[in-house]
Formats: sequence, structure tokens, C-alpha cells
Amino acid sequence: MAKLVKNNTIKLKFDSVKNFAPAPESKKAAKIDPQYDLFINGKFERPMSKKYFSTINPATEEKLSMIAEANTADVNKAVKAARTAYDKTWKKMPTAERAKYIYRIARMIQERAREFAIIETLDGGKPIRESRDFDVPTAANHFFYYAGWADKLEYAFPNRKTTPLGVAGQIIPWNFPLLMAAWKIAPALACGNTVVLKPAENTSLTALKLAEIIQEADVPPGVVNIITGAGVTGAAIVNHADINKIAFTGSTDVGKIIQRAIAGTNKKATLELGGKAANIIFEDAPLDQAVEGVINGIFFNQGHVCCAGSRLYVQESVFNEVVRKLKDRLETLIVGDPMDKNTDIGAINSKAQLDIINKYIKIGLQEGAEMYQSSCAMPKKGFYCRPTLFTNVAQSNRIAQEEIFGPVLAIQSFRTDDEVIEKANNTAYGLSAGVWSDKGSKIFNLTSKLRAGVIWANTFNKFDPTSPFGGYKESGYGREGGLHGLSAYINLV
Ligand code: NAI
Ligand code: MG
Repeated sequence: MAKLVKNNTIKLKFDSVKNFAPAPESKKAAKIDPQYDLFINGKFERPMSKKYFSTINPATEEKLSMIAEANTADVNKAVKAARTAYDKTWKKMPTAERAKYIYRIARMIQERAREFAIIETLDGGKPIRESRDFDVPTAANHFFYYAGWADKLEYAFPNRKTTPLGVAGQIIPWNFPLLMAAWKIAPALACGNTVVLKPAENTSLTALKLAEIIQEADVPPGVVNIITGAGVTGAAIVNHADINKIAFTGSTDVGKIIQRAIAGTNKKATLELGGKAANIIFEDAPLDQAVEGVINGIFFNQGHVCCAGSRLYVQESVFNEVVRKLKDRLETLIVGDPMDKNTDIGAINSKAQLDIINKYIKIGLQEGAEMYQSSCAMPKKGFYCRPTLFTNVAQSNRIAQEEIFGPVLAIQSFRTDDEVIEKANNTAYGLSAGVWSDKGSKIFNLTSKLRAGVIWANTFNKFDPTSPFGGYKESGYGREGGLHGLSAYINLV
């Protein structure tokens, strides 16, 4: 180990990190029932399918609970409840009244923040530090933010009349389970729509806990319906004739299936799909800060982030220095029990996802790239992946082109601005990018030429409910968050 670490300061830091005593969060604050039913029309109901599937903790492979699997009849029931609630209650309710319910949901998430963070970590594998400090507070903030707009739509769209779309079918992934539910539900409700939401099959628990809050908050029955199941259930939502809008976050492959399924219908859609973000470091950048941003950009949430900075472009004059700093920093990262407050990199969300990541690591080696992995201790059970860097990468390599969705970074060098703009844009995706430079003019030049929906400058992976988020090209279309996020749920007359 020590021979990998040339710099003394870092070695000292590393040794002290290694010696951290375990600091596990207690599971006591989290109540997980042995079985969860579907949340339809304000009540938890057994599925008509009579089927349940298990959800596990990917850090230990232990079963946490059984989750109901909704079939087409269950989907029909949920959509009917949403339609009735839309026609009879929600559409007609004074907007300030709607706002009160959304504020109430936000406050109740805050009150139960600890429980939500623990369950998010147990069910999905992300470090407790992230669920506690990022996922849960940001989810509450989304509800607060859109509650604020609910009675001010005439100011958001001056001189226009807004009408809701109707019933929204919302399908979300496993990487930010509660946060994605908030991104979808909050603006839909604020604009007067009702919803049928389906969480991902690996991570349904926090959405079902949110259903409990929605019930306790006395949100009128049918305004929010949360039904569980896998792709077949999702497809039944997408294909339901009485749904007016589909909001989807997930893989580009499923996004394409959805696009084909709704072609020729009146359904509106927003699709937030994959990414292959470029992080670009210029020689004049504050290098230590940039290295920290790159680490955060790709290893945050095990790289299970659609906007993860999975490609790194470093200007040639500082290439060796940056790669050395990255390797040193990699050695200090702690991979392990997501419930431990010291953990930087938790568990990969599923065996299937770990297999995908390992497949790409093999492909990278076969393509001739040079791999560097940290030598940290790894847990014996559960799904884990060492943080991994690749150098000697060619632009045409699959590890530089395809979404890996894991803690794997492909690094290349560049000489000029034009070269790096061309390389960064040379991908099927266009969700996000990062630019690290001391010069404002350089940053403005790049941000106007990079084809990505979100571009961070001298920072990375920063989120705020007021900022729109969404992609170009195969990263999807439509925007979530901010004022733009309202447009996705209204008709402008
Ligand atoms: P996925 O796209 O299959 O799953 C996302 C959601 O879509 C889940 O709720 C799933 O049940 C649902 N779904 C699946 N098939 C459907 C269908 N035919 N119609 C309607 N809904 C359907 O993603 P998966 O298989 O879990 O992950 C595969 C890859 O997708 C990952 O390796 C990653 O590259 C990418 N991904 C991207 C995400 C993002 O945030 N953009 C999130 C999750 C995965
Ligand atoms: Mg799970």
C-alpha cells in the first residue's frame, strides 16, 4: 500500500483513515414491515395479482421485505382512482389549498428524515452520509419548492392561463429512489395533476414510506397512487389509455421503448435517460479542488448517477500531476458498509448492476486501457466494486462511449479548447458536463459549445430544486426542476 502513496501528507491521512473506528448508524429508527401492499385511492391494498417479490439489502444480500407486484388490473384500478380524484377533487381545489398539502408532505419528510435515510441506505446500498445529507433533505426541498409555486402559476407564466394535464404515470429508477419520487410527484401535484407512480423493483421501500406520509397528510384519496412491480407493471402504466403524461427516468433502452409505445397517442412525455458526462480540467484550474470534484463526480453514490462525470479530460501539461493526485486520493476512499458514517463508497445496487460494471472493466482491459484500482479492503458479502481509473483510453473505446453506471472513470488528455470540445461532444449522450478553469472567458466559451443539459463550472453534482435538469440527444428530453419543471405538467392556453 505505502509504495503506491508517494506523498507523505497523503500517506499520513490514509493511515489515519484506515484506523477509523466503525461508526455504524443504528437501524432502530427504521421500521420495515415484512410485507408492503399497493397504495391505491388512499389505502394500502393487496394486489389483485396476489403476487409479491422480495427486496434485499445489497450490502448484505439479506431480505428486507416483500413487495406487491401490480398487474394490469391493479394498474387499471390505480389509474381509475387517479382519474376520479382529478375530476372530482384535485383539479377543482383552490390552488392555495393544494399548496398546503404539498407543504405538509415536505414537513413530514423532514420530521421522519432519519428513518427515510436509514431505509434508503438499507434498500439501495448508498452510504448513509449521502442518504442523510443529500437524498432526504433534497427530496423535502423539492416538495417545499413546488408547494411555493402551486398558487403562483399565473406569475410563473404571466398573461397565460394554465391548465393541468390530468393523470401522470411516473416511472422511476433505483439510484435516487425517494428523491426521484419527489422530483416527479411535487411538480405534478403543484400543477393540479394526479399521479400513479411506480418505483424501481429493487428500491420500493422509501416510495412506500412516502405513501404512508401522503396518507397521514390527508391528501385526498387517489391524488397520489404508488404501485410496485417491475418492467411489466411499468409498461402497463405507459400503455394505459387514460394516462395523459408519462414521466420516466431510467435507461436509454427503456426510454426508447416508451417513446415507441406512446407514438401516435396524445400522451406527453419527459424522459430523463443515461449519460456519459465529461469533466474537463484545464492547466490553470485549482488542481486539488478539481481532483476532489472529479472524485465526487464519479464515485458519489457508487457512480449510480445519470450525470456522473464518467469521462475525464485533462490538459496535457497537468495530466501526470492530476492522475497522480487522483490515484492518491483513491487510496483514501473507504469502500464498505453503507450504514457506517465513514463509508465513502457503499454497495452496488444489485448483482445485475455489478455484473454490468465488471463486464465493462473487462472490456476496458481488452481494449488496451491501463487500469488502476484502489487497494482498499473489501467486504466479503454483498455487491461491491473497487473505485477504478482507466488511462491510455481512446475516444472510440467502449469505456469512453457507453454508460457504465458504476465507480469507473475513463481518463484522456487534450491540448486545445477545440479538441476537448469535440471530444466531450463526441458521444450519444448529453446530460451534463464539468469545466475546471480559473478563467471565466474559457468557462463561458465551453459552456456555450458543450452539448449537455447541465454544465457545472469549478464544481460538480450540485443540485437545487430551482435549477432545471435534463438532457440532449440520447439523454432524453424535457426538464425537471425549477420553472421548467412546471412546464412539463401544464397546458398553456
Ligand atoms: P431500467 O430502465 O430498466 O429501469 C428503470 C425503471 O423503468 C424501473 O422502475 C423499471 O421497473 C422500469 N421499467 C423497466 N422496463 C420497463 C418498460 N418496458 N416499460 C416501463 N417501465 C419499465 O434500468 P435498469 O435495467 O435497472 O438499469 C440498466 C441500466 O440503465 C443501468 O446500467 C444504467 O446504465 C441505466 N440507468 C440509468 C438511470 C438514470 O438515472 N438515467 C437509472 C437507472 C438505470
Ligand atoms: Mg433493495
